[in-house]
Amino acid sequence: MLTRCLGKTQLQVSVVSLGGWALGGGTDWGPTEFADVQRTIDAALHNGVNLMDTAPIYGNSEEVIGRALTGKRDQVIISTKCGLVKNGSWTDHDLRPETISRQLENSLRNLRTDYIDIYLIHYLDPQISWQDVLETLITCKQQGKIRHIGVCNVPADVLEKMAQTGIISCVQQELSLLHRELGRTILDVCHRYQLGFMAYGCLCGGILSGKYRQAPNLRRADARNYFYKCYRGENFDRAQQTVDCVKQVATQQKILPAQVALAWVLAQPGVTCALAGARNPDQMACNARAAEIKLSAGDLCNLSK
Ligand SMILES: NC(=O)c1ccc[n+]([C@@H]2O[C@H](COP(=O)([O-])OP(=O)(O)OC[C@H]3O[C@@H](n4cnc5c(N)ncnc54)[C@H](OP(=O)(O)O)[C@@H]3O)[C@@H](O)[C@H]2O)c1
Repeated sequence: MLTRCLGKTQLQVSVVSLGGWALGGGTDWGPTEFADVQRTIDAALHNGVNLMDTAPIYGNSEEVIGRALTGKRDQVIISTKCGLVKNGSWTDHDLRPETISRQLENSLRNLRTDYIDIYLIHYLDPQISWQDVLETLITCKQQGKIRHIGVCNVPADVLEKMAQTGIISCVQQELSLLHRELGRTILDVCHRYQLGFMAYGCLCGGILSGKYRQAPNLRRADARNYFYKCYRGENFDRAQQTVDCVKQVATQQKILPAQVALAWVLAQPGVTCALAGARNPDQMACNARAAEIKLSAGDLCNLSK
């Protein structure tokens, strides 16, 4: 597995990394069996994947990842997050110092570890300045509970100001063939400040694997419904044009569409790694193999149209 250095962290992360959202099951992705989580994580390690991303808000993702990694903590780099808190059927943005402190302690316990390699602000909290949030996170770092600080889902102008403090070392942002624009503006900032870039949603929840001939019938609370927004009506039909192009390249190159979608993300300048969710060892192995694929200039051009 190819690795790249994540910004100024000196962490060498696998270019294809495991996104742990779906492993947490819950209302977002539906029920999961621990045996499948264990097999998926074992497949990740077997295929050289060394970064696993999770969050307190991803169902019981932290717990199952922590359990599956028992005795293997030193083989992986773990990223988790703070700032989103479930409140009944709502999700609150909460980055008060006491909330960060509570979430971090829970993450450490759930993940069965005494440090988090990469701790990310999941979303900003409109009630708390980002400067104050960084102060809290510096304290967590001084306590040895987190090693590196990063941020997700911030506009480019805010990221630029955060980067100028020198406190953050990486960014997590959506980037896929179906969602390119915002990711690109963020990549520009990352390039200027040597920030690592973890791309998320690279398969847009699975649609870019080309497996849906028609729009799947998803529960309202399913993550693909409320988060990815390309599974319904006209959006699904529009996405199929991109999916068809991905399938064409896959057929020509004798690889799978999911691998084309991931290889495209990895070919974007400044991307450190592509986080891909996987539910089973086959998906994990398929995704990991995308690290070896180099798309031609012609393929990249066709896909980027
Ligand atoms: N920071 C943030 O705000 C943020 C937001 C979103 C995600 N993330 C991170 O990014 C990670 C990746 O995003 P994601 O998990 O939402 O979506 P994704 O990686 O775009 O898609 C993952 C889903 O696609 C399907 N899939 C995966 N590999 C496949 C393959 N080879 N063939 C066919 N289907 C395949 C699986 O679902 P099925 O088997 O059910 O089809 C899997 O759960 C997350 O897990 C999370 O760690 C971060």
